Amino acid sequence: MEDGVGLSQANCRAKGGSPGFKVAILGAAGGIGQPLAMLMKMNPLVSVLHLYDVANTPGVTADISHMDTGAVVRGFLGPQQLEDALTGMDLVIIPAGVPRKPGMTRDDLFNINAGIVKTLCEGIAKCCPKAIVNIISNPVNSTVPIAAEVFKMAGTFDPRRLLGVTMLDVVRANTFVAEVLGLDPREVDVPVVGGHAGVTILPLLSQIKPPCSFTPAETEYLTSRIQNGGTEVVEAKAGAGSATLSMAYAAVKFADACLHGLRGDASIVECAFVSSQACVTELPFFASRVRLGRNGVEEIYPLGPLNEYERSGLEKAKKELATRALKPSRDIRISL
Ligand code: NAI
Repeated sequence: MEDGVGLSQANCRAKGGSPGFKVAILGAAGGIGQPLAMLMKMNPLVSVLHLYDVANTPGVTADISHMDTGAVVRGFLGPQQLEDALTGMDLVIIPAGVPRKPGMTRDDLFNINAGIVKTLCEGIAKCCPKAIVNIISNPVNSTVPIAAEVFKMAGTFDPRRLLGVTMLDVVRANTFVAEVLGLDPREVDVPVVGGHAGVTILPLLSQIKPPCSFTPAETEYLTSRIQNGGTEVVEAKAGAGSATLSMAYAAVKFADACLHGLRGDASIVECAFVSSQACVTELPFFASRVRLGRNGVEEIYPLGPLNEYERSGLEKAKKELATRALKPSRDIRISL
């Protein structure tokens, strides 16, 4: 395979020596992409890290390649290098696309980001159809169904390998719940199901570990803060984008779980927005707790017992997701 731009270790004696997985980040020079690339370079499970973007990858690649960790870093710039960036990859992470500004919903990003995700997924279908794909680009509720349509049309769709990244909702939920309970956030595990926008983000506070109970006011406060965590950051950044650092952290946590699953580690369970084949709800895509393994999603867990507040939230989430799920499939058929 040809090396991309900004290849570090150009004079090294052996390339990509350490055993591990090959990971590509598409949109690697962006606000999420850069810290994500840095953190993936630190991951001992990664042997080769490909950084692809339509701008600025030579600089980001040169910079990150000086880190004295095992992964070999290669940069790829522009559509003509997309195929080289993707060939042979085990895991592809996609944070490419425009972020929100104050006053925008994630759906306002649809028109631009849908096209970007579509093009990148066409490349994946062609060059690494067996790769696990982590989609970060918003609106995740729509970009994941778009990716599925692209893969279906290419004949490569495997629902186990396509995952929308909702880990930031879990990370936020763990943090906010820990604050309320006075616990270390690392000890808290909140399942967050549904989707990744507004009321579709459904934290299941009745199922948290360690088991705890909340007053109605605490439940209301926490649910609302978790659902609006993204907007909290967008407003604080005041036009300079949306969550990038916490998102990169969440993306790495999720990608690391996928790599541990690929390696065959047992009991790797995380929440993700996946093709649920009507096994959790009647919806085609839904965020659930999933067990990750050598093929991606090995098992999708049922929602478990919900309290009345959560049952009502679930109905709102499903209603919203049902309207979102139809749009991309229609649009993608028209544009392909
Ligand atoms: P950014 O604008 O800082 O970076 C986006 C990068 O994508 C840029 O470097 C840009 O050059 C690149 N890009 C644009 N078109 C491309 C193409 N066709 N191929 C490859 N790269 C391309 O944006 P940021 O803040 O990194 O956000 C990226 C996406 O992640 C947004 O859609 C945002 O809404 C989403 N996001 C998702 C979250 C989640 O929880 N899933 C949380 C936060 C953001």
